[in-house]
Amino acid sequence: MPRPGARTDGGNIMRKVYAVLAWIVAGGVVVQAASIAFGFGGMSGYVQDGGVVDKALIESRQADFIGVLGFPIHAMVGGTVIPLAAFLLLVVSFFVKVRGARMWAAILFGVIALQITLGYSISDMPYLGLIHGANALAVLLIAVYAALRISRSKRVGAEEPAAPDVVKA
Ligand code: HEM
Repeated sequence: MPRPGARTDGGNIMRKVYAVLAWIVAGGVVVQAASIAFGFGGMSGYVQDGGVVDKALIESRQADFIGVLGFPIHAMVGGTVIPLAAFLLLVVSFFVKVRGARMWAAILFGVIALQITLGYSISDMPYLGLIHGANALAVLLIAVYAALRISRSKRVGAEEPAAPDVVKA
């Protein structure tokens, strides 16, 4: 018989999956910052060497300057990997019996939805890039916090003494 308040194996697995998904989001933000710097750095060097980046070059997908891979990586990780991990995290949060797990998964999902909306609007409204860059830090902090708090809840839970069934006066 498990002692009262003891965590089940299923609960532990769900907490682990929750933490892994949150770390995937956090790692994804690092990839995003790195890939976009790689892309724009390469493009800047290409232009300084006399290269021309225009609509025709972008649409031809024939650009071959160093760093050009950064753009599709940013679009794929930002448009697919991160939102998918955040969605799965939200789903898994419903099976994690830790207070606040669902709320932090929902907040993370919200800031990522905002981030993606901003990302797809940057070309039309470049000022949105200011929020897109800053909001990425919010995504990172929230993802790390969600991952750490779920791991800590496990440790605290394991050390918690069993709650008495009857409290004597
Ligand atoms: C949670 C992290 C991030 C997500 C989910 C994300 C997502 C996206 C998406 C979906 C796009 C549109 C791509 C397209 O039009 O095909 C985009 C564009 C862009 N993002 Fe991010 N991004 C993130 C972090 C960052 C960071 C940290 C920076 C730089 C500090 C950045 C800078 C840009 C820029 C400059 C663009 C426009 C250029 C382009 O379309 O390739 N992003 N982002």
